[in-house]
Amino acid sequence: MKKPELYEFKTIEDNRGDLHFLEELKDVPFELKRIYWITNTPEQQVRGGHAHKTGAQVIICQQGCIEVVLEDQKGQVLSYTLDSPHKGLLIPPMWWGKMLFKDRALLLGLASDEFTESDYIRDKKEYLGAV
Ligand code: TYD
Repeated sequence: MKKPELYEFKTIEDNRGDLHFLEELKDVPFELKRIYWITNTPEQQVRGGHAHKTGAQVIICQQGCIEVVLEDQKGQVLSYTLDSPHKGLLIPPMWWGKMLFKDRALLLGLASDEFTESDYIRDKKEYLGAV
């Protein structure tokens, strides 16, 4: 779980709609300890701006579009466009993440840990210095 990874989830599509699903340890590489969702974001809202020390996440854009930029401590920058509920992005620990919400985006987040503020690094200088 060192590198970000874009997943394509299984989907059952029929004329009633599209059903997507995933299972812990099979479709995502951790046990699910927490689920969160982000709604009602203003257009072009930027969120994130932090890294997690040990927690991993998979984020899914259920509606709209989320542009994600991930950066590691060596300055490697990876960009992703989440514009489909088929896709999920694995954000491993110690990647700095920023997200731009567009088109009334809804984000579903799956986390490997319970919430603790002490798992966050919110200061970019501290993050870059913590190699
Ligand atoms: P944060 O992770 O900084 O949001 P984003 O990365 O989307 O900008 O979280 C915002 C606030 O919500 C912060 O005070 C921590 C709190 N929070 C929880 O209490 N539980 C959670 O599961 C999450 C994700 C955040």
